[in-house]
Amino acid sequence: YVLHMDANAASKGGYEFYMLKEIDEQPAVMRRLSQDYLDEDGEPTVDPKIVNAISKADHLYIFAAGTSYHAGLVGKALFENFANIPTEVGYASEAGYHFPMMSKHPFFIFLTQSGETADSRVVLQQAIKRHIPSLTMTNVEGSTLSREADYTMLLNAGPEIAVASTKAYTAQIALQAILAKALGEKLNVKAAKDFQLKHELAIAAEGMQQIVDGKEKMEKISKKYLVPSRNAFYIGRGIDHAVALEGALKLKEVSYIQTEGFAAAELKHGTISLIEKGTPVIALINDPVTADLTRGNIEEVASRGASVITIVSKKLANKNDDIVLPNIDYYLSPLLTVVPAQLLAYYASKDKGLDVDKPRNLAKSVTVE
Ligand code: G6P
Repeated sequence: YVLHMDANAASKGGYEFYMLKEIDEQPAVMRRLSQDYLDEDGEPTVDPKIVNAISKADHLYIFAAGTSYHAGLVGKALFENFANIPTEVGYASEAGYHFPMMSKHPFFIFLTQSGETADSRVVLQQAIKRHIPSLTMTNVEGSTLSREADYTMLLNAGPEIAVASTKAYTAQIALQAILAKALGEKLNVKAAKDFQLKHELAIAAEGMQQIVDGKEKMEKISKKYLVPSRNAFYIGRGIDHAVALEGALKLKEVSYIQTEGFAAAELKHGTISLIEKGTPVIALINDPVTADLTRGNIEEVASRGASVITIVSKKLANKNDDIVLPNIDYYLSPLLTVVPAQLLAYYASKDKGLDVDKPRNLAKSVTVE
């Protein structure tokens, strides 16, 4: 008999949906970025013109939309810690028409998977008009924002087809870490010199692989707690807060389960009134400084009936935790924390019978303001 295989299925490499394929590709993307942007000794090989230009800035401004915006929130922590440059992150859609107050020597970074987002382009046009230097980090060579900015760094993540962004998010974080290290070394920041980035990216790749190899666990949790639920929460502090926002976006956009991401302690200042018996609360714990405080916030929601699911780095885990992540540098922890969140979202959508790759009302790249 004749075996029928359409081109689409072939490019999916046997996967039912691109989203899972792209989640699974993340370890390879980490290795590729490490190869493309770090030499054998782990020193960044970022174009010196870019490092020079940014090292003259007194302030970085990151502009982006959607998932790329969430990667920017992690970038703020990276640039401030490793390069010692104050960094602001803004929604491109807001900054275009309410331009933020500028420092004397600003530098703009645009994070955009597609390089085509109209909201981001409006801000870039403003930057050009005001002679503010700019860099676009994008997955698409020759894209509009890449052509119009002064500099480009490519994510090299390979085509991302699923509307919900996964590997571009982790690539953006890894590439910002590389740039932050390059800047910090140039600016003599100790944290940057001490940062064993090549080693940590290898840990990230291995850790991601472990998580995707154990994906059945996320399907089980998703089936039991998320699929039956109308709403859910993600909570975390520090860098986990940034990931909580991304975890919530991922889950809601593909599963239609209304989900909010919160700074763990903010929940009690109002939103805790939404917690009922069985409301899923996914808690992220990677920050040793605030781990105990987040545990306290977990108690608060658990005592109101929430079904708490913990995603915790190994060094902070106890025996009742649900998803335990391999240890990694705190600043790179989003590279691991987000993977179970992506998988929970994927399975919630798939097990509800939805079109995972094409959620209703959404587009991969939005070229209108
Ligand atoms: C769209 C997509 C999102 C994406 C956002 C920004 O809304 O649905 O997944 O995060 O645009 O896209 P960009 O290509 O600029 O990263």
